[in-house]
Amino acid sequence: MEKREELYRGKAKSVYVTDDADKLILFFHDDTSAFDGKKIDQLARKGMVNNKFNAFVMEKLQAAGIPTHFEALLSDQESVVKRLDMFPIECVVRNLAAGSICRRLGVEEGIAVNPPTFEFFLKNDALGDPMINEYHIESFGWADAQSVEKMKELTFAVNEILKALFLDGGMLLVDYKLEFGLYKGEVILGDEFTPDGCRIWDQETREKLDKDRFRQGLGDVVESYEVAGRRLGLTFD
Ligand code: TMP
Ligand code: ASP
Repeated sequence: MEKREELYRGKAKSVYVTDDADKLILFFHDDTSAFDGKKIDQLARKGMVNNKFNAFVMEKLQAAGIPTHFEALLSDQESVVKRLDMFPIECVVRNLAAGSICRRLGVEEGIAVNPPTFEFFLKNDALGDPMINEYHIESFGWADAQSVEKMKELTFAVNEILKALFLDGGMLLVDYKLEFGLYKGEVILGDEFTPDGCRIWDQETREKLDKDRFRQGLGDVVESYEVAGRRLGLTFD
C-alpha cells in the first residue's frame, strides 16, 4: 500500500490517503494537547505507545463483535484503517464521575455513575465541543435516528467489553469517548482507543493512568500509558 498526501493533521495524529480509496493510514504523533489545544507538549514514545495500545484494544473489540475501522499495524507509529464517512459527533459513556460532568453538574469526582450515563458532544473545537442531545442531532442533520441508536448501542457494548478487560488488569474504566462513521452504509467505530481519549484509574489506589496526568500536570504521562498497556498484556519496544 502506498502512502499519499496528508488528508488531515490533528493534534495527536495525522491521516493520510493511500492508493486504495477505501483505506487510510493513521500516523500517531508524539504531540499531545488538552483544553482544546490551549496546552500543548511533545512527549517521547507517545505515538508508538498509543498506536500499539489502540491496535490491541481494537483487536479485542473486533474479536468481541464490534465493527471497527481498524485493519492492521503498519509500523511503530502507523496503522491502516478503513476510510469512513464520519459523523461530527462524540459519544461519551461514564462509569465514574470525572472531568466535565463534575464541573457541569457539581458531582464529586470518583462517585459511581449508576447506571452508566451517555452524553453526545458536537465535534467543534472553536465552540469547545458543546454537549448536544438527540433532538439537535436530528434537527441539524448530523446523523439519522437509526445511526444515533446504533452509536448508543455500540458505545454501551464497548463499555461491557472494556470494563472487564481493564478490570482483569486491576484498572477501572472511568469514562471514554468514541466516534463513529459509515462504511458502505454500516455504522462502525472509527476512532482510536488510547489513554488520550479515556480515563483509567488503578482499581485500588485510583491513581490516574490517562491524559489527566497531562491535563493536571501530574508527570509521567507516557510512562503511565505504558503501565496501563502492560497491565492489559501489551508489550512495547
Ligand atoms: P470530559 O470529562 O472532558 O467530558 O471527557 C469525557 C471523556 O471523553 C474523557 O475520557 C476524555 C474524552 N474526550 C475526548 O477524548 N475528547 C473530547 O473532545 C471530549 C469532549 C472528551
Ligand atoms: N476537550 C478535551 C481537552 O481538551 C479533550 C481532549 O483534547 O482530550 O482536554
